[in-house]
Amino acid sequence: MRIKNQLHTISTLAIIVLIIFISFFILSASRYKTAKSVLNIADEVQIKFFVSTSLRDQYLLYREDRPKEQWVLVNQNLDNLLENLQALKGEDKNIKDIVEAKKKGSALFQRIIANTSLIKSSLPNKQVYSELDNRLISQMYIRHNEFFNGVQEIRSGTEKEVEKTYRNLITAITVLAVILSFIVIFSSWHLNRLISRRLEILHVGADIISQGKLEYRINIEGEDEFSDLATSFNSMTSKLQMNNEQLELERARSVQNAKLASLGEMSASIAHEINNPLSVIQLTNSRLLEKIKKEQLATDTIVHSLEKNQGAVDRINKIIKGLTNLSRDAVNEDIQVFSVENMMEQVLSLVGQKLNYANVELRVLIPPGDLFIESSLTQISQVLINLINNAHDAIANLPEKWIQVEFKLMPESALVQCSVTDSGNGIPPEIAEKIMQPFFTTKEVGKGTGLGLSISKEIIETLGGKFYIDHECPHTCFVFELPKIFNR
Ligand SMILES: Nc1ncnc2c1ncn2[C@@H]1O[C@H](COP(=O)(O)OP(=O)(O)OP(=O)(O)O)[C@@H](O)[C@H]1O
Ligand SMILES: [Mg+2]
Repeated sequence: MRIKNQLHTISTLAIIVLIIFISFFILSASRYKTAKSVLNIADEVQIKFFVSTSLRDQYLLYREDRPKEQWVLVNQNLDNLLENLQALKGEDKNIKDIVEAKKKGSALFQRIIANTSLIKSSLPNKQVYSELDNRLISQMYIRHNEFFNGVQEIRSGTEKEVEKTYRNLITAITVLAVILSFIVIFSSWHLNRLISRRLEILHVGADIISQGKLEYRINIEGEDEFSDLATSFNSMTSKLQMNNEQLELERARSVQNAKLASLGEMSASIAHEINNPLSVIQLTNSRLLEKIKKEQLATDTIVHSLEKNQGAVDRINKIIKGLTNLSRDAVNEDIQVFSVENMMEQVLSLVGQKLNYANVELRVLIPPGDLFIESSLTQISQVLINLINNAHDAIANLPEKWIQVEFKLMPESALVQCSVTDSGNGIPPEIAEKIMQPFFTTKEVGKGTGLGLSISKEIIETLGGKFYIDHECPHTCFVFELPKIFNR
């Protein structure tokens, strides 16, 4: 069940309980209020009745006008109170009875008052009036007693009613508090358990995905907001995974393109390098041929020419050997033990000519006794060619042109450090952060792909090393550090 619906059900339940108990409470409160008012009036009736009986008795004793007049006023008050009582209690039999008794008692008292003047007169049958007076008095006492007992009964009944309604009120409040507390405690316990469990699953899933495991899917059973969230999360991860795969593919393609581009650069260098000895062979041959046609040549001259040609052929051989090595390794991506000196010789056979033409001085510094590394000859050569080409392009228009390639062994960490520094003034800060990103280039369209540095960085990192710019150096200096022995 969805959490929104669960909350809805709980709040509806709480509202129903609240309505039931509030109605019960209002009913009990109004009953309590009525009973309390009835009790107060009954008390007042009792008091007024005592006052009226004492006035009545005073009158009966002295038969004077003053208590009689006061009695009339009190009797009036008493009637008003009884009217109020009737209004509150409605058709109550007890009330009807006491009202009746009161009426009769008052009527009898009025008759006693009327009879008094006859008793006081000097009529001959005065005796008869005295007898009547006695009877009226005893009947009035009976009615007044009835009235008093009736009021007492109403009072004690009302007292019980007050107690009962008060108890009901307290019970309503207590039960309401208990039920509401139960609803609140149960719902918060239930929701807390539900939410924290589901959040935990989401949390764990998000952690796993953030570690790069994009194939992971969060599994939340049921149909609530959390399972919806998990589904959205999963579809987001699927898209990310797809994009990642696409990016990976694009990257692989770019790397391939860049490799081809650097092979293209290499081919241009090779063409330059081979052209030179070829021209030498051609020139020597044509001169020799001309001379042989004209005259008998001395063996020394022929040997000298042939040796010159042999030197040129050796040079071409060397270039081709270097290229074969590179291409064979490039295919096998072979890890092998090689000499840094030999590697630099191969690299220079490919870029040396270009640097010569541009009048760039190249310094190669290798520790005495050479340095041997177990790594990928091809890929490291490729990085060096990239860095030397970049340096060549950067200093092409500077008055001072030099490039220094320096290898150092760091025995304590078994690392080989190589720095390629050029006479430039460093990378401008506004582009220093971007130049390692794929496709970033400041070269004109068609000249640079912007992949050289990003690929070099990737190659070095794949070989277990680090690739960075040395910002401390006053010139432009790219550094890479490699383990002396590749860790497979
Ligand atoms: N030695 C350097 N001196 C100054 N800027 C450099 C140097 N090396 C690289 N850069 C800057 O870094 C950018 C990126 O270099 P990167 O080798 O990645 O690509 P590119 O040389 O532009 O293109 P590509 O290598 O594909 O021919 C260059 O365009 C250049 O602006
Ligand atoms: Mg480059």
